[in-house]
Amino acid sequence: MPLKLIRADITKLSCDAIVNAANSTLLGGGGVDGAIHKAAGRGLLLECMKLGGCKPGQAKITGGYNLPCKYVIHTVGPKWRGGTHGEKETLQSCYREALRLAEENGCGSVAFPLISAGVYGYPKAQAFRVAVDAITEYLLTGDLLVYLVIFDSAAYQISEKLYGEIAAYIDDCYVERHSDTPAQQYSRLYDGESFPLAPSAPDVPCAAANPADDTDMFCDALKTCAAKQPVELEEALRRLDESFSEMLLRKIDEKGISDAACYKKANIDRKLFSKIRSNRLYKPSKPTALAFAVALELPLAETGELLQKAGFALSHSSKFDIIVEYFIRRGVYDIFRINEALFAFDQNLLGG
Ligand code: APR
Repeated sequence: MPLKLIRADITKLSCDAIVNAANSTLLGGGGVDGAIHKAAGRGLLLECMKLGGCKPGQAKITGGYNLPCKYVIHTVGPKWRGGTHGEKETLQSCYREALRLAEENGCGSVAFPLISAGVYGYPKAQAFRVAVDAITEYLLTGDLLVYLVIFDSAAYQISEKLYGEIAAYIDDCYVERHSDTPAQQYSRLYDGESFPLAPSAPDVPCAAANPADDTDMFCDALKTCAAKQPVELEEALRRLDESFSEMLLRKIDEKGISDAACYKKANIDRKLFSKIRSNRLYKPSKPTALAFAVALELPLAETGELLQKAGFALSHSSKFDIIVEYFIRRGVYDIFRINEALFAFDQNLLGG
């Protein structure tokens, strides 16, 4: 997962480099700047004193000293003055320059705080959007593992409207999941668009159900499904033997996209994709399988088919599944938007 959202104190992270939201003197201050200097010790200040300051939008690198990381990359964000003084461009430059320095110094991983989202007053939601967009733009070609560190919950929230809609959708799914029999769920949920959920014994949470135990019922559902889908029954049954890896590669070909375009859009790193490509029987995790379904922009039925190849099924007993289903049903396939919502609901994120 090349971009991870995490809640942490950046001074505790042992990644190769952490980024400091500094001021132009580079001689320390409050907020994350103060925390980093305090944890790093006097050696950091002595090195910073030799740097001659830093302009907004620029970045300079030092050692990590007493911090668990190897480097500290100091960058100076814009002070918010209403958004009409080039603040966004300066903030974008902070992320670009810091990523460039991390790469030039052989880093494999780097952690960012939300630059300018504190003392400098950049509206948090906009600061977050600039950060995610700048980092994901870099990741189209770069190979760093990037952490975006959320230190306080106030520094991060998706829009209230979206949060409310997803919360209501979760409630609906939870209520329906726990008020109907599996057969009733099947009849309602299997509407020719959605994918039949793996049924489970009433007293076993669906997420714990072993979809393999439901294979017969699943195959019956698929036969029913095949009767309603444009795909011929023979083709549908042939695909039963197709592995996860084979279906993934087939869908990549059908979509006419490159492998790299697919795994980058899935927020999956190259190494993991190579493992999947080279082993037809590779079994990915559920977040990985779903990340590829999102990257391929599969409708719910095909998402379920791809999941089933990895031994999983979408379940209305899992908030994670329900949130991903919410976005797929609405044709929203931006994995970073979906991860922001998953993060807001304290769920795992999509990706390797
Ligand atoms: N770990 C991770 N993130 C943190 C930490 C921490 N230990 N401490 C604070 N943050 C977060 C804040 O919650 C905020 O979201 O870092 C983000 C940036 O906030 P600030 O540190 O206030 O930085 P900024 O808004 O860029 O202002 C920079 O403040 O500290 C001074 O010397 C600094 O003058 C400079 C100005």
